[in-house]
Amino acid sequence: MKKPKGSKDDKSEEQIDLENLPKHIAIIMDGNGRWARNKFLPRTAGHITGAEKVRDAVEACLDLNVPFLTLYAFSKENWKRPKKEVETLMQLLSKYLKKETAELDKNGVKINIIGDIEELPESVKLELKKSIEKTKDNTSLTFNLALNYGSRQEIVKAFKDMHLDIEQGKLDIDDVDENTISDYLYTKGQPDPDLIIRTSGEERISNFLLYQIAYSEFDFIDVLWPDFKKEDLYQSIIKFQKRTRRYGGI
Ligand code: FPP
Repeated sequence: MKKPKGSKDDKSEEQIDLENLPKHIAIIMDGNGRWARNKFLPRTAGHITGAEKVRDAVEACLDLNVPFLTLYAFSKENWKRPKKEVETLMQLLSKYLKKETAELDKNGVKINIIGDIEELPESVKLELKKSIEKTKDNTSLTFNLALNYGSRQEIVKAFKDMHLDIEQGKLDIDDVDENTISDYLYTKGQPDPDLIIRTSGEERISNFLLYQIAYSEFDFIDVLWPDFKKEDLYQSIIKFQKRTRRYGGI
């Protein structure tokens, strides 16, 4: 078992087998509202502290050389939240990109969006486009931000795009297989997530990567997202490494 060099304060990092790492980790960041309520703070305070924890997830993946990370930052359904809360989330996104892109770029992180970017506010779109352009050639970590994302909507789009390509003679229906469908999703060219983590103790998928998670391992952890630490990610990886993945075999 190849072990990481290990940092002094993260004992569990030393228990990770570097030869059996997930290639793609996806996280449903949940519990910002409950974290704030527990502290008698407005929900937005939970999102503000939650935004700071994105750095922990990214750094943990960089430390271990996990090449793909997906974070569920804003779902198609999140537009139903109060206007003020949606505005705060959009501002946090812009702020995050403005503040972190240079550092992410320095660390070889490629920022990628999965979701319908066009419906986002102009200010967010502008920052996203700048960050995507600046980091497009990086190869250490592909960091997918799921924004205005819904998996069913992604699948509908894939069906429509495939239909168009078949009509235009670019795709033959007889050649369509499981991989063809993967190629019409936002995650085209990426490995499917090996490990899905949902924080906050809720145990559901909430329209996240439905096609891509056919053989993913799940870890539902009792940590509210604003309390999330690198150590929590390491613990999830250790649990993942103890599982036997059989993909339907024996
Ligand atoms: C779920 O908690 C969290 C969200 C819907 C938003 C996630 C956003 C962030 C962590 C901050 C912005 C992101 C970036 C990338 C800068 P919830 O509000 O549903 O919590 P609750 O279930 O306890 O109410």
